[in-house]
Amino acid sequence: MSDLGPVSTADYEARAAELLPEGTLGYYAGGAGSELTLAANVEAWGRYALRPRMLVDVAEVDTSTTALGSEISFPALAAPTALHRLATARGELATAEACAEAGTIMTLSTLATIGPAELAAAAPEAPRWFQLYRTREPAVNESLVAGAVEGGYQAIVLTVDAPRPGLRERDVRTGFRVPPGVDMPAVSSALGRSEGVTVEEFFSIVDPALTWEGFAEMAEASPLPILLKGLLTAEDAALACEHGASGVIVSNHGGRQLDGVQATAFALPEIVAAVDGRLEVFVDGGIRRGRDILVALALGARAVLVGRPILWGLAVGGREGALAVLARLQAEFATDLALLGCSSPAAVSAGHVEPAGPAAQA
Ligand SMILES: Cc1cc2nc3c(=O)[nH]c(=O)nc-3n(C[C@H](O)[C@H](O)[C@H](O)COP(=O)(O)O)c2cc1C
Repeated sequence: MSDLGPVSTADYEARAAELLPEGTLGYYAGGAGSELTLAANVEAWGRYALRPRMLVDVAEVDTSTTALGSEISFPALAAPTALHRLATARGELATAEACAEAGTIMTLSTLATIGPAELAAAAPEAPRWFQLYRTREPAVNESLVAGAVEGGYQAIVLTVDAPRPGLRERDVRTGFRVPPGVDMPAVSSALGRSEGVTVEEFFSIVDPALTWEGFAEMAEASPLPILLKGLLTAEDAALACEHGASGVIVSNHGGRQLDGVQATAFALPEIVAAVDGRLEVFVDGGIRRGRDILVALALGARAVLVGRPILWGLAVGGREGALAVLARLQAEFATDLALLGCSSPAAVSAGHVEPAGPAAQA
């Protein structure tokens, strides 16, 4: 880390680790089981090499693109992550303002410390998606979706990889519970309280019985397009196309659910192939550099979502810290885009990536 402060997302992570209480750090940083997938997510992007092309005019580089029709300043969105008030006093409001200033979409979690309508009222300029956990309580689902519609959210991200939480040992070791004074409105409406609850307890609100048929009914009745988050196989990607999804997000929940599943960088190609251009494909997990975003684009993703690095930014500097993380990723992306020989995200193609190392020659 430079004396002037954190620069890379890794610097922000190191600084956040010094600042956050043990329980919050473990909750944010941790994964399930042996954390095989948590580590693999980060490493997998480095197992691809970029294939830059020379003598391309990159005098003008425009990093902007769209995600489900919404303009974004570069192909990275904020992933839905729970409990931002554990990182900074203003919680998700700080994140929403940072995303608005960075020109990208914030995805508000069902497990946020503010409800969708309230966040929209407080940060009206921020473009936003709402992440929904379909809960066991129809009234809670209705009120969350109504809040998203009323708040002008452009899409719903339905997370389907968490019918129950993965076994996250760091939380067991630290005895993590939602601290006093921190409210998760969706959890409080379903359970009557959220202060002091464990991860197991707050995930108990999620309906573990949702099926593809149930999803098709939701999609049919939904006032907003629904992206499915948490897919890892070509089979499920095909089902998503057939059951009314408007987009898919290749994700293993940042290694927090089923440990030992494929790193998302390796799951992405089969999903892109199965979707075959019918829907936009997004990916998250282990994105730490602008070059990782380029690899994702070359493998066929429309854009990526970024989880933990934004939490590290929030912990280090609230709104400004989250903004600095996003700005850094955008600067890295812009530089590497030009060095790859592309003047826009649309110019990145399958020919710009290959497996790294000797395997490529095999
Ligand atoms: C602390 C934390 C909380 C999360 N909470 C949610 C959540 O409420 N809903 C959800 O769909 N995903 C949640 N995720 C998963 C993220 O949306 C995303 O899939 C993951 O963080 C991406 O990996 P990355 O952190 O390596 O960027 C959470 C992840 C973390 C680290």
